[in-house]
This record gives sequence, structure tokens and C-alpha cells, in this order.
Amino acid sequence: MPGKLLTSNRNAYPLPPPRGLIYRYRVITLGEKQREEELIELISLRGLPRHVAIIMDGNGRWAQKRGLPRIAGHRAGIDTLRAIVDCAQSIGIKIITLYAFSTENWKRPPFEVKFLMYLPEKYLHRELPSLMEKNIIVRVTGELSDLPEGTRMAINEALEATQNNTGMILNFAFNYGGRKEIISAVKKICAEVRADCLNIEDITEELFTGYLYNGDIPDPDLLIRPSGELRISNFLLWQLAYTELWFTEILWPDFQRENFLQAILDYQIRERRFGDIKF
Ligand code: FPP
Repeated sequence: MPGKLLTSNRNAYPLPPPRGLIYRYRVITLGEKQREEELIELISLRGLPRHVAIIMDGNGRWAQKRGLPRIAGHRAGIDTLRAIVDCAQSIGIKIITLYAFSTENWKRPPFEVKFLMYLPEKYLHRELPSLMEKNIIVRVTGELSDLPEGTRMAINEALEATQNNTGMILNFAFNYGGRKEIISAVKKICAEVRADCLNIEDITEELFTGYLYNGDIPDPDLLIRPSGELRISNFLLWQLAYTELWFTEILWPDFQRENFLQAILDYQIRERRFGDIKF
């Protein structure tokens, strides 16, 4: 088709979707590609957020709007995930944390939970060669011990295979809850105090951070939440203290590279004072 590029990054396609598998592909116009390039030109590569966190929300609504089962939304969300990881890596983002399954998501219907548990296997298995090629390090934040064996094995395989890579960190928050993470850190600290390995006076913010799931990963600079919800939903409660928040009505499966770039651009005009005053 003249003036159009066919890519496997199918995010937004017209309602209702065409039948069959065709709907999994989307056409990116040259105009969109150009817009993306224009945004990249505007972004200052020196002022990039080091760590971007994303709540991948709106998959269910996206599917419902098309008369599809909710899992079709999660499947489409994977395509967006792939496109955004690629975009983040290409502009030089160092760490991206994606909220993939919360400790509250166990309340969903068993079929949906089962599907969400299967996604890491599906995604990581298929993407591993490409993640290796891009030198990406996979990390996970959350309670892995509660996961089904297949999910755990897929995650462990990706963690192990990518551990010596040196590029962007792709961190999945899976079976993650911010409050649970804080409680878990408190318990570890209490145990050390009780065993006389730690003095209460020595507990500082830095020390506490070290007891979190991924204490070595710096706090997010930017949090992106699509789908119109204006809340944090138990995500990185400790780490988001001074994070810049960016919301959009766009549902995650419709979220595109240019939306991600726009969020970065908007971040770059924010003034971060960390409680200080402007000099
Ligand atoms: C929230 O949308 C989304 C999720 C609970 C799951 C998101 C997960 C992925 C996109 C894929 C994860 C992939 C890997 C590799 C782990 P929702 O279902 O709450 O949407 P709704 O608010 O519209 O119902």
C-alpha cells in the first residue's frame, strides 16, 4: 500500500476488528512514523528519565469495546509492550518497569488469572533471542514463590539468560503489591534487629530501600498510566515518592510509540524540585 508501512506492532485498529488473525496487525502510516521522528528530534537525550515505570492498564476495556474476551486485550497489550520496550531501548532509557500482575489481580476470574500467568511463558520464550540481541537485562519485582511452576521457570530462564547483559533493564512487576513489598522489607529488618545484626538507630531510608525486592534499582523518574484511571493502585509505593506522574485516556493496547515519546517530552519540561525551592 503506497505511503504505508506494515508492521507487526498492531496497537490501534478500527472498531470492530476484522475477522481472524488479521486484526493482530496494524498499519503504521508514514505520517505516524514522521511524527515519531519529530518527537525524537525534540527530546533532549541528556535529560532522559533514567527509569520509566508503566501501569499497563485498559486491556479489558479495549477488548470489551470490540466484543472480544478480556484475554484478547491482554494479548494485544503484549504487542504494545513489545513496541514500547523497543522504543524505550532505542532512545536510551536505562530501566523500564512494567506492572504486569498485581497481588490484587488474583481476585479475577480463574480463566483470566490462568492466562495472565501464562503470558510470561509466552512472551519471554518468544522474545528471549531478541532480548539477548538487544543486550536487555530481564528483572522481576514481586513474590515469585507463589507463582505456578511454568511461569516461575520461564521467568528464571530469562533472568539467568540475560543476567550478564549490560543494556536496558526490563523489569516486570509480577505478583507485585507495594504494601506487601514494604511489609516484607519490614519483616527482614525486624529479623535482623532481633538477631542483633542491626541497630534500630541505623535504619535509614537508604538502608530500608536495600531491603525492597529490587533495592539496587533507582526510583522511577516517570510513571505512565494509560486508560484514564488517576491512581497508583499499590504500585511501587515507596519508590514513587518523587516520581513525575503522566496520565492518558488511551487504553494500553492503543498506546503507541508516539504516546510514549510524548510522555518523555512532557517529563522534560517538568521542574523537579524534590521538596527544595527553585533557584
Ligand atoms: C490491566 O488491564 C492489565 C493487566 C492486569 C495485565 C497486563 C499485562 C500485560 C499487558 C502483559 C504482561 C506480559 C508479561 C510478559 C508478563 P485491565 O485488565 O485491568 O484492564 P481494564 O481496567 O480495562 O479491565
